[in-house]
Order: sequence, then C-alpha cells, then structure tokens
Amino acid sequence: MADVTIHRGLKEIYLDRTKSSYIDGKNGKLYYRGFNINELANNSTFEEVSYLLIHGELPSKSELAEITKWMADAREIPSGIITLIDSIKHLHPMDVLRTIISALAAFDNNLADESMDANIERGLSITAKAPSIVAAHVRLRNGDKYIPPNPNLSHAANFMYMLYGREPDLMDAKLIDKDLILHAEHGLNASSFTARVVASTQSDMYSALTAGIAALKGPAHGGAAEGVMKQAQEIGDESNTAEYVNNLLSSGGRIMGFGHRVYKTADPRALILKVDAKNLSERKGNPKWFTILQSLAVCMEPYEKKGICENVDFWTGAIYNLLEIPDDIFVSIFALARIPGWTAQVAEQLNNNILIRPLLDYVGELDKPYVAIEERK
Ligand SMILES: CC(C)(COP(=O)(O)OP(=O)(O)OC[C@H]1O[C@@H](n2cnc3c(N)ncnc32)[C@H](O)[C@@H]1OP(=O)(O)O)[C@@H](O)C(=O)NCCC(=O)NCCS
Repeated sequence: MADVTIHRGLKEIYLDRTKSSYIDGKNGKLYYRGFNINELANNSTFEEVSYLLIHGELPSKSELAEITKWMADAREIPSGIITLIDSIKHLHPMDVLRTIISALAAFDNNLADESMDANIERGLSITAKAPSIVAAHVRLRNGDKYIPPNPNLSHAANFMYMLYGREPDLMDAKLIDKDLILHAEHGLNASSFTARVVASTQSDMYSALTAGIAALKGPAHGGAAEGVMKQAQEIGDESNTAEYVNNLLSSGGRIMGFGHRVYKTADPRALILKVDAKNLSERKGNPKWFTILQSLAVCMEPYEKKGICENVDFWTGAIYNLLEIPDDIFVSIFALARIPGWTAQVAEQLNNNILIRPLLDYVGELDKPYVAIEERK
C-alpha cells in the first residue's frame, strides 16, 4: 500500500555491524573474530572457540585451562531436568532440547542478575549442559540409564561418552570437536537473528537461546543434515542418483545440503568436512554414504554456476551416520554447537541495543463494514 521497497526474507539487508563472524560468500571464506575457519578447525578446540566467540580474543594458556575446566564442571544437569526429559522423551530431540533449555531457567539461582557477566556465564553454562541434555534424552528414550558427565574428557568426547556409554575413539572425538567448531557461529542466519530479536526486547538469555533453537529446527536451516541422509537412504545406490536428482528437481524439489543464502560458491565448512567424511569412511571401512553423496555432488555440478553449491550440512550427516549417531539428533548437534555463537551475538546486541522492529506493508482492505454477530450467517 505504501510506496516502499519490500525486502522479502530480508535478503541482502544489513541489520547492524558485527565483530563476531564474517562470511565472504563470494570467495567462500569464513572468519570467527577475524580468524580463518580453516585454522580454527585444524588447530583449536570447541572450548577455545567458545571462549574466542564470547570474549572476542583467543584465550591465553591459563585462560583456556580455566574455561575448559569451568565448562567440564558445568556439564552436570539437575535431577529435576533428567525427570523432565524422561517425561517428554517421546518428542523429537529438538523439541526436548528447546523445552529443557527454557526449563533450565527454573534452576538458575541468580535469575534476577541480568548483567553482561551473568548473561555470558549463562550462555557458557548452557553450552556446557546442552550435550548432557541431548545424550540423556537419547539414553532415556532407548530405555538406557543416564550416564553422568566425565569431567576428564573434552567437551566433544564427553558428549560421545554420555551418548554411547563408552569413551570414544580419540580420532572420532576430534572429528566431532571439529564439527562443533565449524557450526559454532555464522553471521545473521535465521536462528541468530531470532535470538537477537528476543534479546532486543530486553528479554532474557534463556528466552533468546530457546528461540534460537526453535528457529534452527526447520529443514531450511538446521534440519538439512537429517534431510541429506534421508535423501541418501532413498537413493540407496550411486547408480540411482542421476534419476533421483532429475525426478526431484523436475518436480520442484530441493536437494538437501545444497544452496545457501550467503555463499554463492563452495561453503568452506563443506570443503573441510568432505575430506573428513572421505577419511572417516575409509577408516570405518564403509564407503557407501560417501560414494552416494559424492555421486549426488557430481549430479549437482551444473548448478554451481547458479551459485547452488554444497553447504555445511551436506557431509555432516554421513559423518554422524558413520559415528553411529542417530539421524534425529543431527540438528540437535548443530544446536549445541551454535550456542556460543548465539551467546556472542546476544551479548553484541545487548551492548548496543535497539528494539528490532521492522515494518510490514499492509495490502488488505480498509474500513470494511462491521456486521453484528446476530446479523451474520
Ligand atoms: C538454504 C536455502 C533456503 C537458501 O535459499 P535462498 O537463498 O533463499 O534461495 P532461494 O530459495 O530463493 O533459491 C534460489 C534458486 O535456487 C534454487 N535452489 C536453491 N537451493 C536449492 C537446492 N538445494 N536444490 C535445488 N535448487 C535449489 C531454487 O529453486 C531457486 O531457483 P529458481 O530461482 O529457479 O526458483 C536453499 O538453498 C535451500 O532450501 N537449500 C536446501 C536446504 C538446506 O540445505 N539448508 C541448509 C542451509 S545451511
């Protein structure tokens, strides 16, 4: 109705300035706080990257030791939370995670403190607890006992330990650690935007992170890795890939794990994970999923010139599958990796807050005659 330009989906709109991460979508590069993602993925740990994102600088040796210990000590979840997980264990893991992150507020003895330090501590505490929540849910729904966290293991290794009930292979744990690093932060994606919107109303950290999880759940965002594996299972064998892709695309469908709002060339995270998926399938002696995904990638090559390339979710499903991680927690793993990124962006929003409140152009009718209920059919 108004003479305005509509930016549907807020495509190419800049909301604010950030120092958290930079996506160079044209050249396929990603930086966290100025550090190239390749360097962080190859040399860092998830605990270190969490510190970097939240505090803006790499930790010193003693700061890294301190945060690693602090996060290990913060992993335990209250028994009331375990009971709550048990009572909703029939739900999808993302529904459980969303509910439980919200419920953690009930166990926060310092809830009235809304200082920046308290909010950052909350973000880190939730980062530490999220793997315990996901692992507890998987075990309880399988009829297995909850396994308490092991503070002597790294964040990633402990998650696998709590999930499987045994200490993981060191290379497998390092791979999950790297995967968490690669998913930790990514500009103003839908879930970070959602977390910022909630923070901008001066709501609280639990609400902002719960909202972030809600936004991440959808297949257009975090749910794609599960979708990739579903498609790989439907394909079944590389000889079927070309026909599958043709049928899907000609009926208007989308190949999961392809395309990105910002990257119009290869997603650098996908390039790293492709090598890992290949190495892992060789190490596990199971090339099936890598071979099918590779054939899918070849069929999609003609779409590269349209900017439709592999994204971060394309290879993660195969990696999780080879590590015997259940399909329906793929997106939960994305969520528990993204909590430091959301925390950093909520802190950034609060440091220079403005209510996020865009406009909608009204195109409906006006001054319609109101008919009293007695006179309506
Ligand atoms: C992520 C995604 C939502 C980004 O989409 P976007 O930037 O809004 O782009 P659009 O949805 O407008 O798509 C632009 C064009 O590319 C096509 N396209 C985008 N992703 C595609 C895919 N995965 N498979 C096939 N075609 C795709 C669209 O059909 C559209 O074609 P058209 O212009 O001929 O209509 C989209 O690429 C997608 O749905 N991907 C699959 C889900 C996924 O992997 N999500 C994880 C993201 S990390």
